[in-house]
Amino acid sequence: MLLQLLSLSVVFIGGISAEYKNYDGFKILEVNFQNPRVRKYIQEIDKNLGFMPDFLGENWKQKQAHYFIDKDSVEKVKTNLASNNITYQLRDVNPQIFKVRRRRDINGAVTINDVNNKYLSYDEQMQFLSSIAQQYPNDVKLQKIGNSYEGRSLTAVRIGDDGSSKPIVWIDAGVHAREWISYNVALYLVYTIVSQPAYRDLLNAVQLVVVPNTNPDGYEYSRTNDRMWRKTRSRFSNGRCSGADANRNYPFFWGTQGVSHSQCSEIYCGSRPQSEPEVMALTNAIQREETRIKGYIALHSYGQEILYPWGHTMRTYPSDVQDLIQVGKAMAAAIRAVNNTDYNVVNSGDGLYPAAGASDDWAKSRGIKYSYTIELSPIDDYTGFSLPEDRINQVCREAFQAIQVLMIEVRSKFAIRQTTSSASSTSAQSSLLLKRMRTAVRGSGRG
Ligand code: ARG
Ligand code: ZN
Repeated sequence: MLLQLLSLSVVFIGGISAEYKNYDGFKILEVNFQNPRVRKYIQEIDKNLGFMPDFLGENWKQKQAHYFIDKDSVEKVKTNLASNNITYQLRDVNPQIFKVRRRRDINGAVTINDVNNKYLSYDEQMQFLSSIAQQYPNDVKLQKIGNSYEGRSLTAVRIGDDGSSKPIVWIDAGVHAREWISYNVALYLVYTIVSQPAYRDLLNAVQLVVVPNTNPDGYEYSRTNDRMWRKTRSRFSNGRCSGADANRNYPFFWGTQGVSHSQCSEIYCGSRPQSEPEVMALTNAIQREETRIKGYIALHSYGQEILYPWGHTMRTYPSDVQDLIQVGKAMAAAIRAVNNTDYNVVNSGDGLYPAAGASDDWAKSRGIKYSYTIELSPIDDYTGFSLPEDRINQVCREAFQAIQVLMIEVRSKFAIRQTTSSASSTSAQSSLLLKRMRTAVRGSGRG
């Protein structure tokens, strides 16, 4: 009954009415792929099923792949899996996650408390950034790097930009609209690193640039119309469907593997490389200072993984892959030290599917040494992109430690002048972790 009510309801948002896209009858398909035969089936799942199901994420601990199956395909998928002798589970979708988000939740100023406890609207995110920039005018500068398709500002937060040419770590979040936790992690990072004196030394040596919302159109659409929206919101002439997967739109091996050229696909790579204004803005902004950028992380969800290049194809690695693995493992260790959460460090192409035209590969191809995609929590429950709000803070604190490790590594490898004063206890801890990881990883093969 409640379900029916929900699906029929028209939700009013500040005077505007909107119907949230109805996902009644949709299922989450879980397939265990330990078995090489099943793994092979999964890698060609589009050919096997006759369509490409929406890949949600994977649970690397249990070796399970998760897909979102529309209600009209459920029977067909069942038959196909059964005839191929594949064991699987079909789960109902939690209707709670399909409740529409109000356009604005917060009355008054947006604070770190909100960032830690709520998913915010794009406007709220921007207000939070303005208030930080006002509070820390010497440390934080907001830079507009372009506009989204619908004309929202794309904002880069420059932290510790003192006009010098110190190395940069670049973090961006939310290129996939439905991966909500990534936005909060980016905002938490900005706040924490400027508000706590412990990170002064690090910021004196390494600059941080954070783009907390790289896909504001998609994000707002996922808050108000379609919780499962992933892509941008560009409209195509004579097109039935809108949006492209911005993480298939970067100009490096564009359109080759793990993409679709049809507009309705969740992994539509766009009409050409950088067809999406968001990708054009990001690539331009990064290229303007690419020789200084030594670390790059794209924040995604979900799956608890630290992915390193190359991801456009399988079993292909950059020549310095050992360095990427080593720092990746140090990041995972720093995360584990917070609350024992496991992140897997793995090549992004060797998992279930390669995907070309992603930002991590492109960043690496531009000479940015440490380039990663982090798939944030969760992994071992069924909340997926809708990680409950009471778990936001922990994920933020964990990711923060990982990013700090990367900054410390960049400092030790690339900083112009080493800061002499004693590091904070947290940084000291991370340095220690990094040293330990370095010794542990030395000599081992590809992880
Ligand atoms: N889940 C991400 C995506 O599908 C992973 C991207 C990893 N990078 C890669 N080059 N394949 O976009
Ligand atoms: Zn993603």
